Amino acid sequence: MSKFPIVRMRRTRQNEKLRGMVRETHLQVEQLIYPMFIAEGIHRPNPILSMPGIVQWPLEMLGREVERLAALGIPAVLLFGIPNEKDGVGSQAYAAEGIVQQAIRTIKATVPEMLIITDVCLCEYTDHGHCGVILNGNVQNDASLALLAQMALSHVEAGADIVAPSDMMDGRVGAIRTMLDEQGYQQTPIMAYSAKFASGFYGPFRDAAGSTPQFGDRRSYQMDPANAREALREVALDIEEGADIVMVKPALAYLDVIRQVRDRVDLPIAAYNVSGEFSMIKAAAQNGWIDEQRIVMEVLTGIRRAGADMLITYFAPDVAEWLRHS
Ligand code: PBG
Repeated sequence: MSKFPIVRMRRTRQNEKLRGMVRETHLQVEQLIYPMFIAEGIHRPNPILSMPGIVQWPLEMLGREVERLAALGIPAVLLFGIPNEKDGVGSQAYAAEGIVQQAIRTIKATVPEMLIITDVCLCEYTDHGHCGVILNGNVQNDASLALLAQMALSHVEAGADIVAPSDMMDGRVGAIRTMLDEQGYQQTPIMAYSAKFASGFYGPFRDAAGSTPQFGDRRSYQMDPANAREALREVALDIEEGADIVMVKPALAYLDVIRQVRDRVDLPIAAYNVSGEFSMIKAAAQNGWIDEQRIVMEVLTGIRRAGADMLITYFAPDVAEWLRHS
């Protein structure tokens, strides 16, 4: 092995052209997925205080916003609904006229080429705020599967392109696959939130989606942050059940999990740069403590370098702008 002075690492760092040629990881607008919140019964955007710049959208303003995203080159949105009515079994989650079902139809009527991914989970629709149905104070696994499959089907019937189950019930990917196939939707991909950890980084999202559990927490279904081997088992099971894309969530505290999944499986991997990760950067930037654009690009490049193919991020429109001007 040659060494200094024969080897000089700085030779290929001398200018941007050279650095561009040897760059290993690229961030592109095609990789971005933008999460959006659509609330029933509002008529103007409702700002989410813990997520500066992010709002809950009224149905009637959704079309114009999605046109803006399409013009920026963003290929996909991930939809979350905030219904007027909640109940014990999350009825509005699978109602034909539910808020997400209406939002899907609105987007498809305005920007048909925008890929619509829908979050499939009951927590925004249940009065207790858990991701499944409750019996004797426990979140019931098997009883929740039929409802989740019904929810996924109603999204696809409304026009969703991809469904993304985030509830972490065992067997939900298989239940959804069976339901979609039986109903003639063999071609609809499932993006499984496979390794979803019980994380403090979801705090601001729960303000945005109104989905904080009314008792207890999600640790009996979401994963323990300490476990990486278990995450690999979750991923393997979701693949066996028919997942087309697997997800690791959150991203930043779990880059090692993304890397291990990348080294073991050949499916596309999505990483969710979640609300808390967004809000921490926003807060520091608003204080003038960090350079927002630089930090966001560095963080997202890091998630890509760890092995993610696609990035779900609240920064998507900003990143699309920055990439355009870079
Ligand atoms: C569940 C869901 C959550 C997020 C996405 N889907 C919240 C939770 O599990 O409590 C979090 C996303 C984020 O924090 O940005 N429907």
